[in-house]
Amino acid sequence: MNYRHGFHAGNFADVFKHALLARLILYLTRKETAFRVIDTHAGEGAYDLFADAAARTGEWRSGIGRLADVSTVDAATRELLAPYLDIVGPLDAEGRPALYPGSPLIASRLLRAQDHAIFCELRPDAFAALQARFARDKRVKTLRLDGYLGLSAFTPPKERRGLVLVDPPFEQRDEHERMLAGFLDAHRKWPTGIYALWRPIKDEGQSRAFVERLRESGVKRILRLDLSVGGAAEDQKLRRTSMVVVNPPFTFPQDARALAAFLAERLAQGAGAGFEIEQVSGE
Ligand SMILES: C[S@@+](CC[C@H](N)C(=O)[O-])C[C@H]1O[C@@H](n2cnc3c(N)ncnc32)[C@H](O)[C@@H]1O
Repeated sequence: MNYRHGFHAGNFADVFKHALLARLILYLTRKETAFRVIDTHAGEGAYDLFADAAARTGEWRSGIGRLADVSTVDAATRELLAPYLDIVGPLDAEGRPALYPGSPLIASRLLRAQDHAIFCELRPDAFAALQARFARDKRVKTLRLDGYLGLSAFTPPKERRGLVLVDPPFEQRDEHERMLAGFLDAHRKWPTGIYALWRPIKDEGQSRAFVERLRESGVKRILRLDLSVGGAAEDQKLRRTSMVVVNPPFTFPQDARALAAFLAERLAQGAGAGFEIEQVSGE
């Protein structure tokens, strides 16, 4: 387990993932009934972009750093971004927040008194930070546990409403297979949950195969959202990311399209930047 999210916090992939995640959770708050968020690979919860890890890669500069000024963005897009940017908080002149929120902090800020969250993290130092951050929040349970075990153990949640984020580090070659198997098992037990499956796209063939297997699985209501920042392909840097959302709320596809269009333009690094939205399977 070499992966440390602190090196990548606030990068373009985080911005895309977290802006979409905030919207998905916001839809859940539209009904009074309680819901639960399950974050299988939670990370530390929040990240100091002034710290050594973030400073060494500077990845946040081409992510959250590009959102320092949204004053000229149209009002509708600003409204779509607002749940995310309100949680990120004020940015300095370079576009750096006091603390960059990871998925657990975003989820916890959107929970109401009746809602709950479970955050799993396996790496000891990341878990210690996560546990400390949420120690006093009674709505949140943090567990040092393999995320796929957590996914299996905690679905369906007793509320029968909610969202699962599966956001592994993709260090293992079989991560796509594990994600697919874990998702299909959880979906069999809880077909009405919202699932957000995040992936870096490093190998187009592997990514397409994953989506085809999802299509052939018979699971309905699958949406794929990909964002590419474009630019030189010769270095090892990540340039494309994907979020698959199963059971998206009714207005989500349209909102996600507007967000993706804005982010593809704002976060572009060169030729080839853009986005794709595909209804992988319908109703
Ligand atoms: C991409 S990061 C998560 C980022 C986080 N979801 C966010 O958006 O802020 C992946 C995390 O998974 C953790 N991890 C690695 N293997 C794991 C496993 N088997 N179960 C749970 N967590 C794991 C890593 O330590 C890392 O913190």
